[in-house]
Amino acid sequence: MGAFTPRLPVDLEVLPATRDHAVTVANLFELYAHDFSEFHDVELGDDGRFGYNNLPLYWSEPNRHAFLFSVRQKLAGFALVKRGSEITGDECIWDMAEFFVVRRYRRHGLGTAAARQIWTRFTGRWEVRVMESNHVAYDFWARAIATALKETISPVHAEVAGRRWYVFSFDSGLTP
Ligand SMILES: CC(C)(COP(=O)(O)OP(=O)(O)OC[C@H]1O[C@@H](n2cnc3c(N)ncnc32)[C@H](O)[C@@H]1OP(=O)(O)O)[C@@H](O)C(=O)NCCC(=O)NCCS
Repeated sequence: MGAFTPRLPVDLEVLPATRDHAVTVANLFELYAHDFSEFHDVELGDDGRFGYNNLPLYWSEPNRHAFLFSVRQKLAGFALVKRGSEITGDECIWDMAEFFVVRRYRRHGLGTAAARQIWTRFTGRWEVRVMESNHVAYDFWARAIATALKETISPVHAEVAGRRWYVFSFDSGLTP
C-alpha cells in the first residue's frame, strides 16, 4: 500500500453508479453503517451485515441517484441522492440521503468537493439532514455548505418518527 499524498480534490472523480455497481455500493454502505453504529442504534443482521433495504430503489426509481467517489481509480466513497423531503414531504426538494468518505481519504477536502459536484449537478432546493448525534457530520456539512455557497447557513431542528435532525436548507444554483 503506497503512501497517500493528498492532491485532492484534483484527483477526485464523482461517477454515477448504476445497477452494475450495486454490490460495490452495498459493500461501501457496510463501512458507512459501521461508522454510524458508533453513535446510532443500529444492529448487525445474522449474516454479519447491516444491510440497507432501500438500496435496490436506486436502480429502479428515476428520482434516486447513486454516486461513487474515486481517487486515482481507487474507491473513496459514495453518495445517495433522492428527490423528496424526509422532513416535509415536499417532492421538489433534493435530499442528500447518504454520504460517505472512506477513512483513508478523510480530511483532505474530498467530501467538500464531492458534495459540491453533486449540488452542481442537481440545481434547486436542497436539504442536508444530519442526525443530532453525528457531531462530525454537523461540522463537515456546515463547512462544506458554507464553502460551496460562500455563505453560512444555520440549520433548523426537526424530529421525524422519533429521529432528531439538524436540517440545512439552501438553493444550489452553483456553477461547475
Ligand atoms: C463526514 C465526512 C463525509 C467528511 O468527509 P471528509 O472528506 O473528511 O471532509 P472534508 O475533508 O471535506 O472536511 C471539510 C471540513 O469539515 C470539517 N470536518 C470534517 N471531518 C471532521 C472531523 N472528523 N472533525 C471535525 N471537523 C471535521 C472540518 O472543518 C473540515 O475542514 P478541515 O479539514 O480543513 O478542518 C466523513 O467523515 C464520513 O464519511 N463520515 C462518516 C459518514 C458520515 O457521517 N456521513 C455524513 C452523514 S450526514
